[in-house]
Order: sequence, then structure tokens, then C-alpha cells
Amino acid sequence: MRRALLFTLALAACHSALPVPTPGDASRVNVSLARLAEGRERYTGKCSSCHAPFAPSHLPASAWPGQVDEMAKQAHLEKVDRDLIVDYLRAFARPETERGLAGPPRSP
Ligand code: HEC
Repeated sequence: MRRALLFTLALAACHSALPVPTPGDASRVNVSLARLAEGRERYTGKCSSCHAPFAPSHLPASAWPGQVDEMAKQAHLEKVDRDLIVDYLRAFARPETERGLAGPPRSP
């Protein structure tokens, strides 16, 4: 049941293209544009073999590092991949709410 929901979500994520970082995003999150672009590359390269990559807006920024760490072993991530992917995902994560969860996904 949970798995069916997951794959529906993954499929939905697949149809919303992953945001391409712009110079504005880079200055907003204070991470270089090259780094965000590299993070996006590694995210699609390392995280799409089992399920379609989830949109960064799937989770708030505070939840992404833990989620990536959970997947890191299965995805054979080096530390450098992990850090780049986390930077990319956090840059486009859904807004945090006071409870640190939920809140509607931000529209692109
Ligand atoms: C070897 C297969 C595999 C790879 C590679 C993989 N995943 Fe997953 N992922 C899964 C499976 C299976 C689930 C569902 C079960 C679970 O939550 O552990 C999942 C679930 C998820 C979820 C959904 C969690 C939720 O319930 O909201 C996210 C987000 C996610 N993966 C992110 C990633 C990221 C980021 C990477 C790359 C670092 C990645 N995955 C690489 C197999 C994989």
C-alpha cells in the first residue's frame, strides 16, 4: 500500500521537471551556481535508478540531509556526491512551516 503510494508519487515527480538552478537561486541560497548545477547532475545520475527522482519540493530543507543519508548506501554515494545533492535539494525544498513539516509544495 505504502509502496503503491510511493511509486505514484515518484511517477508524479517524474513529470514535473527538476528545477534548473539560476544565478538568482545561487545568490538566494549562497551556494555557487556551478555547485548547484553539479548537484542536479549527480541527483539525476545517482538517484534515478530505482525510482524517478523526487522533486526537491517533496520535503522541507531540514528533512533532505537525513533522507539523502538514508539512500546514500543504496545509491553508492561518495561524500562529495552526498554534499552536492543535499545542496541542490535544499535550494529548492518546500518551505519549512512552524512545525517543520507539511505546508503546500512551493510552485516553481
Ligand atoms: C537502490 C535503489 C534506490 C536508490 C539508488 C535510491 N533510492 Fe530512494 N527509495 C528507494 C526505495 C525502495 C524507497 C521506498 C522505501 C523507503 O522509503 O526506504 C525510496 C524512497 C525514497 C524517497 C521517499 C521517502 C518518502 O517516503 O517520502 C525519497 C525522497 C528518496 N527515496 C530519495 C532518494 C535519493 C535522494 C536518492 C539518491 C541519493 C535515492 N533515493 C536513491 C530506493 C532507492
